[in-house]
Amino acid sequence: MRQAGRYLPEYRAIRERADFLTLCKTPELASEVTVQPVDLIGVDAAILFSDILVIPEAMGMHLDVVESKGPIFDDPIRSRDDLKRLNIKDVTGRLQYVFDAIKLTKEKLAGRVPLIGFSGAPWTLATYMIEGKGSKNFDIAKKFIYSDPTAVHELLQLLADAVVDYLNAKIRAGCDAVQIFDTWAGILSPTDLDEFSLRYIKYICDRLETNGAPVIVFAKGVSSLDKLADLKCDVIGLDWTMDISAARARIGDRKALQGNLDPCVLFAPKEKIRQETERVLQQFGFGSGHIFNLGHGILPNTPPENAQYLVSCVKELSIKYHQ
Ligand code: CP3
Repeated sequence: MRQAGRYLPEYRAIRERADFLTLCKTPELASEVTVQPVDLIGVDAAILFSDILVIPEAMGMHLDVVESKGPIFDDPIRSRDDLKRLNIKDVTGRLQYVFDAIKLTKEKLAGRVPLIGFSGAPWTLATYMIEGKGSKNFDIAKKFIYSDPTAVHELLQLLADAVVDYLNAKIRAGCDAVQIFDTWAGILSPTDLDEFSLRYIKYICDRLETNGAPVIVFAKGVSSLDKLADLKCDVIGLDWTMDISAARARIGDRKALQGNLDPCVLFAPKEKIRQETERVLQQFGFGSGHIFNLGHGILPNTPPENAQYLVSCVKELSIKYHQ
């Protein structure tokens, strides 16, 4: 999950010197920010500092990340004609800065913890490209899928091809695992989920050259776990609204599960953080196949000491489930 970011004063200090995109595009700074949660919070894996929206940016869309407003594209894709504006040749070539950041991060980590690389799934990337920003109802994106599904499929397919290329290049550059984020999968009806989201995640998973690197799929708000369990991936990420014991019972040993503490628990008193950690661990139960994680990204106002405390609780309380 997102673990670097504004809740860390050390991140904010670097952000004062560079805007968000400059940070992503400067391997020295991106790698420094990537390693911060490993050093400061004690997490067991680093997640490469970047953003899912570097793909549309590399396709020529103008991206602004505005503090407190989130990401904005001022030239959204609203018609089949708009697709022609996208520069889809050699997208991965224009993302060389990401691979440079991976190499530098691996040097800084020096084998201490693995490095996770990630990409947005086509549907979530498309929602931002169509809406131009985050949205409550995604009415513009939905109007587009219902009025011109062929154009949307064209967009999703070109994104899927770019994601395959991008994640394969990330693995070659040194990422030890990759995660696919479909943050907005949960806004689709079951039929639309199959057609506009899962079909493309499947396309990607089928084409990854993993060289043994685990593939994590996080489709937020998707409760059709059987559909996710059929994907050629190793881990399924669960948000905090899912019951991890029910998910384990349903999925069995087919996949490992990642999750699923509510990130807002990090605003609670220490006793509650400990209690909730124990609850998630106990609900998953004995044995391996659980990656303890938040059910979504860490929030900007989170006290860093609470994130540290959570990690220490997980390390202490999880031992008994592995004896
Ligand atoms: O932990 C890490 O180091 C990885 C960092 C990471 C970022 N974005 C950095 C970021 C990851 C994994 C992402 C993925 C991402 N980006 C997703 C999928 C995961 C999710 O949370 O659902 C999505 C939907 C985005 C799009 C995006 N980028 C949003 C919604 C925002 C605004 C977030 C906010 O809190 O305002 C961004 C900007 C962004 N990406 C920030 C960070 C640290 C905040 C930028 C800043 O002001 O410094």
